[in-house]
Amino acid sequence: MAPLTSIRTSDGKLEIVNQLLLPHTTEYLEIKTIAEAHDAIKSMKIRGAPAIASLAALSLSYHLSGALAASPTPDFLASPEALAAHVEPILSFLFTARPTAVNLGNATRRLQKTLDTLLKSGGDARAIAEAIVAEGHLIADEDVGRNKEMSRRGGDWLLERVGQEKSASGLNVMTVCNTGSLATSGYGTALGLITYLHENGKLNKAFYTQTAPYHQGSRLTALELQTLNIPSVMLCDTMVGSLFQHHNIHAVAVGADRIARNGDTANKIGTYNAAVLAARHSIPFIVVAPVSTVDLDVADGSGIPIEQRPPLEACLVRGALYPGSENTTDEQAVLMITPRGLEGIYNPSFDVTPAELITAIVTEKGVAVRKEGETSFDLSGIV
Ligand code: MRU
Repeated sequence: MAPLTSIRTSDGKLEIVNQLLLPHTTEYLEIKTIAEAHDAIKSMKIRGAPAIASLAALSLSYHLSGALAASPTPDFLASPEALAAHVEPILSFLFTARPTAVNLGNATRRLQKTLDTLLKSGGDARAIAEAIVAEGHLIADEDVGRNKEMSRRGGDWLLERVGQEKSASGLNVMTVCNTGSLATSGYGTALGLITYLHENGKLNKAFYTQTAPYHQGSRLTALELQTLNIPSVMLCDTMVGSLFQHHNIHAVAVGADRIARNGDTANKIGTYNAAVLAARHSIPFIVVAPVSTVDLDVADGSGIPIEQRPPLEACLVRGALYPGSENTTDEQAVLMITPRGLEGIYNPSFDVTPAELITAIVTEKGVAVRKEGETSFDLSGIV
């Protein structure tokens, strides 16, 4: 089966798979406006740091392509100044959709830079709009290649670290959340590393946490691993310690939403728990992410904004009965798992894993390994 994709751009349409309905229903939603792109990111119909950056960039590209093709062309294409006055608020608006993943801000800043550079060099409005359209497509398209590169680099490094003898019957690698095709433009980051090991006959099994409360693991990673025929085992978030006590886990590989200059890493809630347990069991803990996830402007994890999701999202599960089972329904159900009127709910979407718990950080440019006894990383070689 073909790998799942988060964004589809065939037939001149920009579409996303509605991840709120996976794994039971694969429904593509057309994104026709900037407001729809913003809503899709905010409501997590699309999620994953690289994927939301790609959708934000593409939504502007499609918006401008539509304007360029319209007849008569809209007023904002009358002059470079009018174009800037139109595009800048759109970029600021898209930037606000979710705060933690730096990829989104990197994408909007990159498009702003394209605009600024061409404004300075005196291009006409149409040429500037065309350049922004191209840059938006580039942001989405370049993701797959770099994912394959970081997966290869991280996978080869891990095999060497574990050693030939211990990896002879294949590695067991645990991950959290979803960092595969659904979270990126394709192949994935930490899940890409796992896929790379599998493709090269070096994976025994992938283990992944359910990742409450949004269940990116049980809903999305499960589906991706099943689609790719990768042998895998799901566990509840509360079972990580038990897994490490009773199974030979060779590594934990996770993605990232933002990596600070010292290597502190914000990622899906529960990542920190896994890192503490991995350190306790001397299991290598690897962060796999593109260069665009590294934020050199932030010195350490305390400067990373952590998104608080609506309390309601921690009080419900989404799901459906399998087709064919008794009392089956095509409807997806949202079931409340807390008493009505419950107050006092803690629901941060991300946590920060301190660099001292991370063994290695991998980007498309290379692998940075934390030196024994040091509590931070030198990322200069991999950004
Ligand atoms: O809230 P989400 O689902 O967007 O969080 C996703 C993660 O934390 C991922 O691990 C991260 O974005 C990297 S995706 C390649």
